[in-house]
Amino acid sequence: MTGHGKGFGKVILFGEHIVVYGYPAIVSAMGNTTTAVVEDGTKGLEIVDSRPETPGYKEKKMGERDRALELMFKFMDIDTQKTPLKITLGGDLVCASGKGSSAALATSVARALNEHFNLGLNNNQINEISYEGEKGSAGTPSGIDNTASTYGGLLIFKKNLEGGPNHIERMKIKEPVEIVLANTGITQETKEVVADIRSKKDAESEKYNKLFSNYMEIFDEAKKAIDDFDMKKVGSLMDEKQYILREMTLSCPEIEKIIETGKNAGALGGKLTGTGRGGSVILLTPGKELQEKVLKAIKESGFDAIKTEMGAK
Ligand code: MEV
Repeated sequence: MTGHGKGFGKVILFGEHIVVYGYPAIVSAMGNTTTAVVEDGTKGLEIVDSRPETPGYKEKKMGERDRALELMFKFMDIDTQKTPLKITLGGDLVCASGKGSSAALATSVARALNEHFNLGLNNNQINEISYEGEKGSAGTPSGIDNTASTYGGLLIFKKNLEGGPNHIERMKIKEPVEIVLANTGITQETKEVVADIRSKKDAESEKYNKLFSNYMEIFDEAKKAIDDFDMKKVGSLMDEKQYILREMTLSCPEIEKIIETGKNAGALGGKLTGTGRGGSVILLTPGKELQEKVLKAIKESGFDAIKTEMGAK
């Protein structure tokens, strides 16, 4: 039987990197997805990767992609030498650092394998398999990306550092809010950046502990502002979060240029999202008119950007 699956892209609104150390984060799935089709193959594993991409992304990430699939097959006890498979990847998620592209791939393939082999897996099991895949790309991932990719919607995620189930809480938002997601064009290795931040945190623990405790104040306020649908406040908290990310050495000139352009065009707030040091930037732009204006300004400044929403189902 041909198996089909899809996985959502994601934007982290608050808490990237800090989430790795057991702090809570807020993440939203995007409407854009990666799709996978699994069919019987003729020899070993054949992959047709037709996902749209930011130039160079797929080539740079090919090793990670193959490692992710290998880890997932191992976890699921699938041997493609004995059971040849053909996997075709597609969808409308344009792969770029920061959007959870590797998690979307892992989730889509887990779902398609589930259908192909008629395994009857539930969402929690799909999420576990895509977490295995994430280890291929993120090294010691928190699990936030695969969780957003599997469950969709707007979530609070907190990693359980003891190894038990992670805390996953669905957040309610009155209505989806327009955002612009801009692309610096720089593809980053999440694994390397996470490892570098860990060593910086170990070397400068006092500085990082202070930043993390500042973050917790931002997180509590952000949770409340989203509940109250106070987007002005959410925007200013994004700016505060960007300050912390800057202090953690996660920003770069391209990210700062995009934020400045977006804010000059009226965005309520802006920050890098995901891995950082390149990758993606989120700008909060409630209302179609503001979203269009910010999108135009960013494109005119030479960066690629898309319109999307936070809190989309
Ligand atoms: C990457 O999208 C998010 C990071 O916090 C890594 C992780 O949580 O695994 C940078």
